[in-house]
Amino acid sequence: MDARWAILVVDDDPDALRLCARYLDDPSYKIVTAPNGRAALAKFDKEPFQLVLTDMMMPGMDGLAVMREVRKRNQRTRLIIMTAFASIHTAVEAMKAGAADYIPKPIDPEELRLKIARALEQYSLAEEFQALKRKAVSGGFDEIVGESAAIRKTLNLISLVASRDVPVVLTGESGTGKDLAAMAIHNASPRARGPFVAINCAAVPETLLESELFGYAKGAFTGAYGAKKGLFEEANGGTLLLDEIVDAPSAIQSKLLRVLQEGEIRRLGSTRSTPVNVRVLAASNRDLRQAITQGRFREDLFYRLSVVTIELPPLRERPEDIVPLARHFIKRHGPSINPAVRDLSPEAVARLVEYSWPGNVRELENCIKHALVIAMGTVLAEEDIRLEKLHPVAEALPEEQASIVLAEAEKSFLRGYFERVLSKTSGNISMAAEIAGISRKNVYEHLRRVGLDPAAFRRSP
Ligand SMILES: Nc1ncnc2c1ncn2[C@@H]1O[C@H](COP(=O)(O)OP(=O)(O)OP(=O)(O)O)[C@@H](O)[C@H]1O
Ligand SMILES: [Mg+2]
Repeated sequence: MDARWAILVVDDDPDALRLCARYLDDPSYKIVTAPNGRAALAKFDKEPFQLVLTDMMMPGMDGLAVMREVRKRNQRTRLIIMTAFASIHTAVEAMKAGAADYIPKPIDPEELRLKIARALEQYSLAEEFQALKRKAVSGGFDEIVGESAAIRKTLNLISLVASRDVPVVLTGESGTGKDLAAMAIHNASPRARGPFVAINCAAVPETLLESELFGYAKGAFTGAYGAKKGLFEEANGGTLLLDEIVDAPSAIQSKLLRVLQEGEIRRLGSTRSTPVNVRVLAASNRDLRQAITQGRFREDLFYRLSVVTIELPPLRERPEDIVPLARHFIKRHGPSINPAVRDLSPEAVARLVEYSWPGNVRELENCIKHALVIAMGTVLAEEDIRLEKLHPVAEALPEEQASIVLAEAEKSFLRGYFERVLSKTSGNISMAAEIAGISRKNVYEHLRRVGLDPAAFRRSP
């Protein structure tokens, strides 16, 4: 097989084709040209191409149509669009069709070579990533505990992407370890000495999110007496984790896209742009593709961010991790909560592994902390393990409707509701009040009534 990268260049202008071929004259590239979309697709169907570079404005099939057709045939091929009408709008359209990048015309040879090299680097990363996904080898992070094949695979992927300076999307249910994985990526990356900054887009009110991220200039709005750095600037030289990114309003999503494309930010109310060097990681416990179809998440931003997506599996799909994790949490929290406890009793183990852990690792951690508080002996006993039976209220209701009195049903609903809110806000009452649309005092009253302790939702540092 040919070891060179196969690149297909599509343009109706023969001079442009000749120029591209000359600029990309390199022993590691095999350049094939096509004068229109139809010819390009015919060539594409005959042999594999890792990259397609296409002009935007062409008679007949335009660049976007070519890209869509290529995408249909092969998801992995990287796409770059060339356009004489370089506007953010064209770029956005191209990215929606799945472009990795765009190049303004007239073509700057340096920019062309750089962008081609970068897209091919992303291609090989994605390939390696796929290969690794298929086979799991042993990993090596101290903080991430687990013995299942799934978690070992995750560790491998983390170590693979850590050294490459690309964005990563982390998905998985709440409490599966997305924050932890993001931190592991940062710590294993060349940026480890730089800052790691995280922001939960769902927990910050919309009106503040923009100034949090991008900062503001003095006098940008009433009350802006001084200038303030945003988190992008705080994270300069390091990593920025955008948690619950789906919840960022669309205006902010487009600003994020621009920062990722241009590598610079502009503070609110400022006319000057500041370059920032930040690796962006994004986390979400919801399906981003679904959010795209619902129109809540920008597809172009998704393509920019998701060169690599790491999915953290729910705990119920990797029961072999339950006991090692439980022991890990005894070691971690025992010394401060109950140093007498050394281990789990066999009965406690049985109870833990039988449960489905809807709140995943976070729920397990809270359960162990709670058990440590009430344990009397040197091992955690069966009765120290308190499991949340109330959880699926909605499921419990239909069959038992007749037997649940209204007050009980209400209480159990409220408990489930506040559990979700508190885990979202990490136990922060002000944020919980904001989300629930009631006063802080009211939140406290509800929590007391349903027997929830906000401290149990606080994240350990
Ligand atoms: N594999 C693991 N090994 C050790 N600790 C873990 C592991 N996975 C998760 N944890 C711990 O569980 C808790 C919850 O994890 P984390 O905050 O990373 O979840 P998350 O996926 O970001 O949740 P959310 O979607 O609610 O933000 C943290 O205290 C984390 O340290
Ligand atoms: Mg998180």
